[in-house]
Amino acid sequence: MLFKNFFKSALSESDVTDENIYRQRRELLTKMGYLGAGALVSGLSPYGHANWFSGDKKPNFVTSDLTYKAAENISGQLLTSEEKVTTHNNFYEFGSQKHQPFELSQQFKVNPWQLKVSGECDKPFTLDYDDLFKRFELEERIYRLRCVEAWSMVIPWQGFSLANLLKQASPNSKAKYVVFETLHDPEQMPGQANRRLGGGIQYPYTEGLRIDEAMNSLTLLSVGLYGKTLPPQNGAPIRLVVPWKYGFKSIKSIVSIKLVSSPPQTTWNQLAPQEYGFYANVNPMHDHPRWSQATERRITGNGLFAASRINTLPFNGYGEQVAHLYKGMDLHKYY
Ligand code: MTE
Repeated sequence: MLFKNFFKSALSESDVTDENIYRQRRELLTKMGYLGAGALVSGLSPYGHANWFSGDKKPNFVTSDLTYKAAENISGQLLTSEEKVTTHNNFYEFGSQKHQPFELSQQFKVNPWQLKVSGECDKPFTLDYDDLFKRFELEERIYRLRCVEAWSMVIPWQGFSLANLLKQASPNSKAKYVVFETLHDPEQMPGQANRRLGGGIQYPYTEGLRIDEAMNSLTLLSVGLYGKTLPPQNGAPIRLVVPWKYGFKSIKSIVSIKLVSSPPQTTWNQLAPQEYGFYANVNPMHDHPRWSQATERRITGNGLFAASRINTLPFNGYGEQVAHLYKGMDLHKYY
């Protein structure tokens, strides 16, 4: 992200996935009593997970269909194709180029996995791999993801709200912030072993939210997309999705969630504080020092019409749900 990095589109129009089709099919399947949404989306996707691997690139993980409750959370916009969502990524642990996370992460082991929930709470606990999918009721959220680099996507995620997990830990009165940490494993994550490949980041990747942001019902812990378990490049087995903030807040492959009393240090803020704030709320009125944030390039698929320039909305269009969290704050100062 430190580099000027604008998305270039190529290939054909046919990969654009129409959300209306997605919705109509889902309604039909729901009427038929068929809630296994994995079946639904696999019919839509031009690019099944099985197609990712050729030659000696065998996956070390198993993608499986998820069953979840379809929530009425439709963004009213074209979905980004599954292919684009899973091949155009930011995951510096696997390289800082957009194509590298897909190419370099397929051997990443996500099972067994442990996610520790600790800190200022009465009931700390640890989740193992199976708990991630079973302990909380999964639901679908279709969210816009706006990267600070001025591109965006619309993605159907499956997961559960962070608030549900935090409530189980019973936060105490000192819990004012939540800190998240990605796995640190240089043997598996080449960007952690090689400073150049990893974009000069000090690992482990760390992010944070204020407790009221963490408890907002929009804040999601995702374990799947397009009805399948997350592929490694998108943050398997569990990642955060905070749709009103720039994408770098949505930390991937989380091993620790800790409730703390003071504002935490976060990866991009530490690396370049004048460019990446702690809050990182999507804000078209506050430009990045090196580029405008007034518009964004919406990526839908791979075709001629696969990326269009649209106006960026305050809080990425989720102002109704979250603007009150920042009442009275100067959003230029707290960017
Ligand atoms: N999490 C970790 N651990 N490492 C990263 O490099 N990149 C962030 C975020 N989470 C990143 C991360 C950035 S900059 C963005 S835009 C989103 O992941 C991209 O998510 P996606 O690749 O699923 O679209």
